[in-house]
Amino acid sequence: MFPNHRPRRLRRTPALRRLVTETTLRPHQLVLPMFVKEGAAEPTPILSMPGVVQHTRDTLRKAAVEAVAAGVGGIMLYGVPEVRDAVGSGGVDPDGILNVALRDLRAELGDDTVLMSDLCLDEFTDHGHCGVLDAHGDVDNDATLAVYADMALAQADAGAHLLGPSGMMDGQVGVVREALDTAGHTDTGLLAYSAKFASAFYGPFREAVESQLTGDRMTYQQDPGNVREALREVTLDLTEGADLVMVKPALAYLDVIRAVREISDVPVAAYQVSGEYAMVEAAAANGWLDRRRTVLEALTSIRRAGADVVLTYWAAEAAAWLRES
Ligand code: PBG
Repeated sequence: MFPNHRPRRLRRTPALRRLVTETTLRPHQLVLPMFVKEGAAEPTPILSMPGVVQHTRDTLRKAAVEAVAAGVGGIMLYGVPEVRDAVGSGGVDPDGILNVALRDLRAELGDDTVLMSDLCLDEFTDHGHCGVLDAHGDVDNDATLAVYADMALAQADAGAHLLGPSGMMDGQVGVVREALDTAGHTDTGLLAYSAKFASAFYGPFREAVESQLTGDRMTYQQDPGNVREALREVTLDLTEGADLVMVKPALAYLDVIRAVREISDVPVAAYQVSGEYAMVEAAAANGWLDRRRTVLEALTSIRRAGADVVLTYWAAEAAAWLRES
């Protein structure tokens, strides 16, 4: 043993450990995804995501104010419509639930937080796909882009600061950017879901948005085995004008986050998805994991991998914990 090599020296006291910590986790780095349901009179619990609800417009406003007071850096909003159709009209309609709720939150919060909106059709289509279908029932990339452009304008008009194109259509960032610019929304930014994998970890989210999907999304979301392809997607999105790029899910894709961090000159986000949340909640409910320590460790690992921003259903709670510490 070499007595001068003693890494434990720096671990002896909390103050020493704090001084040399490499990875920070701060409230403002966390973004809270929230769900709002059209026509709801009461918030509806999402059973596979204990503690998460589909909000009414009213409870959404209150919960968003609380989350911002807890210190979260932003809110990502998803709408659950009452009626769906083949082309997802509810997403484009200025009176559709997502756009109405965006307006509510912008009026309530102004610029106190970063208001983000999901720019995708899956919540609004009766077949549950992220785009419109062609005559063969396949997702039609370019026809979908035209709808995304209209949807983007509606969300920008409603007051979103950042739009999150999440449908994995080719060219979506460029088409949406151009539509926004042409309409004068040059200040509305794009948080591009650049590397979004076809993941089983989205299971609970499908309950959260009452997804109608029967098949899968393998023709547009990425194969879980592919990291070079993720970098290609990121490079395209950067070229098309993404303001932030995102990897999703997070915990099973930490290597992808790291690889994206290394090629990206814009902030990198990672989405700790519904299944990541559900796993920890279920184990903690059984007494098998220490909930708070597990949550903070998972979030720290996502930051350590290279994410600047983390979307997490624990954002408000974790922000409150971090402010105590
Ligand atoms: C698509 C979208 C999905 C998620 C966020 N945006 C679902 C999907 O691709 O099936 C999943 C988020 C989560 O699981 O927490 N609009």
